[in-house]
Amino acid sequence: MYEALVFRRVRAIDPSIALDAEVDVVVEGKTITRVGPRAGDSVSGERVRRIEINGAYLLPGLIDLHAHLREPGQEGKEDLKSGLAAAAAGGFTDVCAMPNTRPVNDTRFVTEMLVRKARELGGARLHPIGSITVGQRGETLTEMADLKDAGAVAVSDDGYCVTRSDVMRRALEYASTFDMPLIQHAEDHALTKDAQMHEGAISTRLGLRGWPRVAEDIIVARDVILAEYTGARYHLAHVSTLGAVRILREAKSRGIKVTAEVTPHHLLLTDASLLGYDTACKVNPPLREDADLLALREALADGTIDCIATDHAPHSVLDKDVELSEALPGMIGLELCVPLMLGLVARGVLPLSRVIDALTRAPSRVVGLPARHIREGCEASLTLVDPARSWVVAPERLRTKSRNTPFLGQTVKGMVMMTLVSGAVAFESLDAVPQAAS
Ligand code: NCD
Repeated sequence: MYEALVFRRVRAIDPSIALDAEVDVVVEGKTITRVGPRAGDSVSGERVRRIEINGAYLLPGLIDLHAHLREPGQEGKEDLKSGLAAAAAGGFTDVCAMPNTRPVNDTRFVTEMLVRKARELGGARLHPIGSITVGQRGETLTEMADLKDAGAVAVSDDGYCVTRSDVMRRALEYASTFDMPLIQHAEDHALTKDAQMHEGAISTRLGLRGWPRVAEDIIVARDVILAEYTGARYHLAHVSTLGAVRILREAKSRGIKVTAEVTPHHLLLTDASLLGYDTACKVNPPLREDADLLALREALADGTIDCIATDHAPHSVLDKDVELSEALPGMIGLELCVPLMLGLVARGVLPLSRVIDALTRAPSRVVGLPARHIREGCEASLTLVDPARSWVVAPERLRTKSRNTPFLGQTVKGMVMMTLVSGAVAFESLDAVPQAAS
């Protein structure tokens, strides 16, 4: 264990306090003790570790609002240990886990088990999300007070939509009693039965049943009306359509309490990726068209979409190495989010500060995690990134148990070098973190 960790001449970027400067950042124990030009010079001692990487970014620890860690029940795809390790390797200090496990996390017992187990593991910190309805069946509300008391930070039936308007109304009212955000998977299932991909020219060409945009838009429109009526905190998961963006923008302009997240894959890929029937590109909601992708980018840039979330959805070969119609939807995302998003920054599509905000301050507000800053006296939960370092998305590099991503084999730029969770090293890229000469 070191006495102090000195990040030398890093570009510290914390949009929440308008910080973007080349400084030294000193960490002692769990705390950031100094920030400033040459602040590390005066730190001495045998067990001082100095890290200097030319041009590296030091960021507040990233937060993922949306990951499927598969425990309990499908540990072959992922478990808490591999999922939290993958999160830390992706630069996330905190990860919120969706409740569509087996059994569903619809009780205090499952939430408590997850919290207890995660505490004993290294890696990122876990924040369970409880389900909105018992068994995610969309009928009976869960005991949200119990879930919250056990450590759940939000409720969601993700994977399924709360379709019934009466249930949704009561769910919003009930969740707001406990000041919990409700995260909706917006999909009118009656319109997406047997759908394999986005409904459009390409689904027609491929002869595959489509998932029309309106199935998302109809639910978002109704939910905004209910959010306004109930005054509850509504968060839209993985927004994918230009119509949903339009509805969100209008809702926000009228001061309704709605927030939203978008995934890296919906910002980067379209339904054209399915032309070769690649099951890695089958996701829910589906990859859409250029017009949607552009609307999502614009909405993320202007803050209509608050957060970036991975929707990390690990699946086994058995669930993906099959015909498209048999394949389960989802792609892994925890370890790819940072390079993929930095790629969009490098291309001038998104401002760096907005991307960082969408991965730090914005998600912390949605689920009410304490604010984190790169400032003296604050908790040392930090992510060190080398934006210039390229790497190949090779299967053996990944910490997740699953390999379902269309980015496999591609070269990406931007590498997470270290993730500190409350002063402890949760991840470091062993081959790559050089010690600076003292
Ligand atoms: C999710 C999963 O695998 O748990 N998959 C996905 O494509 N996002 C569930 C879901 O939303 O269908």
